[in-house]
Amino acid sequence: MSGTTSTNGQPVRKALDGIKVLDMTHVQAGPSCTQILGWLGADVIKVELPGRGDITRGQLRDIPDVDSLYFTMLNCNKRSITLNTKTPDGKAIFEKLIQHCDVLVENFGPGVLDRQGFTWERIRQLNPRISYASIKGFGPGEFEDFKAYETVAQAMGGGMSTTGWPDGPPTSSGPQIGDSGSGIHMVAAILAALYQRTHTGRGQRVSVAMQDAVLNLVRVKLRDQQRLAHGPLLEYPNETFSDYVPRSGNASGGGQPGSALRCAPGGANDYVYVIIQPQVWAPLAKLIGRPELVEDPAFATPEARLPHLDEVFGVVEAWTQGLTKFEVLEKLNSIDVPCGPILSTKDLIEDKSLRARNMIADVPHPERGTFKTVGCPLVLSDTPVEITTSPLLGEHNEEILNEIGWDGKGAKELQAAGVL
Ligand SMILES: CC(C)(COP(=O)(O)OP(=O)(O)OC[C@H]1O[C@@H](n2cnc3c(N)ncnc32)[C@H](O)[C@@H]1OP(=O)(O)O)[C@@H](O)C(=O)NCCC(=O)NCCS
Repeated sequence: MSGTTSTNGQPVRKALDGIKVLDMTHVQAGPSCTQILGWLGADVIKVELPGRGDITRGQLRDIPDVDSLYFTMLNCNKRSITLNTKTPDGKAIFEKLIQHCDVLVENFGPGVLDRQGFTWERIRQLNPRISYASIKGFGPGEFEDFKAYETVAQAMGGGMSTTGWPDGPPTSSGPQIGDSGSGIHMVAAILAALYQRTHTGRGQRVSVAMQDAVLNLVRVKLRDQQRLAHGPLLEYPNETFSDYVPRSGNASGGGQPGSALRCAPGGANDYVYVIIQPQVWAPLAKLIGRPELVEDPAFATPEARLPHLDEVFGVVEAWTQGLTKFEVLEKLNSIDVPCGPILSTKDLIEDKSLRARNMIADVPHPERGTFKTVGCPLVLSDTPVEITTSPLLGEHNEEILNEIGWDGKGAKELQAAGVL
């Protein structure tokens, strides 16, 4: 609970205070969801395979024998219990956990929990108030039994066919829209199920398919797919069109044209993305020292500029190339032109404003020292997020067994038997 007090003197509770999440997630898609639930105040109990835990604990390690950044950056504000849910004692403890919690979240391969006997029917029988939330690669249909990773979802959700350059291969995006994109969709679905439970008293089955989450984020390209029936997409830089939306490099994809323009001194990320709204053309032309283009019939209107956007942006780039991306940011914002310098990961992790807002946060970890993580992008005025470290494997075994009233074999015996 937060130490803050409200105006009526009552302690300010976290938004999801009192909600218990049984977190059976692994890798990225599921953990990104439950981490946000934890940040919003839920008690997240992460159930992990004894001995190994979430596979990411040991993947891409930068320090020997210490939980990887892959794990620590996706599992803050959680507690960890190890449990082999394939053993009889493990199943009995898992049943008690189901009865104890409000939401079960998992992103195993298709059918994993069913094979262990934990079907939705069984889970809701154990606890009618629990919602059972699953992230899978695909929804019901021909692909439902297939496993999926980030790039599989990007490939099959329209991300890769629409990303990259017209003459280059399909490309995946840096942002993990298949994994963390699905995770944040799942957060919304779980919150809706929790809200509805306040009326019905019942939990529900909640599903997000990674393919669907990517497709949702590729929505505007499906808009353009339908517009293609009426002719070429004039705002695209592409010269030829087939019967599908082509990759269009850095074209803005919106109703306002944009382009990434080179800046000084010419490094890999010395670019600024500039969008030319109709109303900014006149001040922009003057700022870049080309006032004659305000009246020039080939440049004066958005319609006139559309067929030769390369030339239009070339004129602006002749100006940006003499300035750093931050100088361009300042000058363009002074005349209200939307623009964004291309920030590298180094720029971001050192960014003062992101650090001031805890969007780049320092988190002390008992074994690795302090690590940096990306904070919570959801901001609630009364219940600020406090980021706490990711748990060590099985760190809360005994504490959680006590909480759920487990009165079977003790922790040491269970551990020796490979249950914990
Ligand atoms: C990501 C993915 C491809 C990984 O595949 P995988 O490493 O083969 O892992 P699976 O989830 O299929 O299987 C996990 C196995 O570990 C077992 N396991 C995991 N935790 C366990 C526990 N606490 N106790 C006992 N067994 C456990 C499971 O029972 C399963 O074994 P089984 O196949 O014998 O039933 C797969 O989980 C998947 O498709 N998930 C859904 C989509 C998704 O979220 N993808 C993105 C991940 S970022």
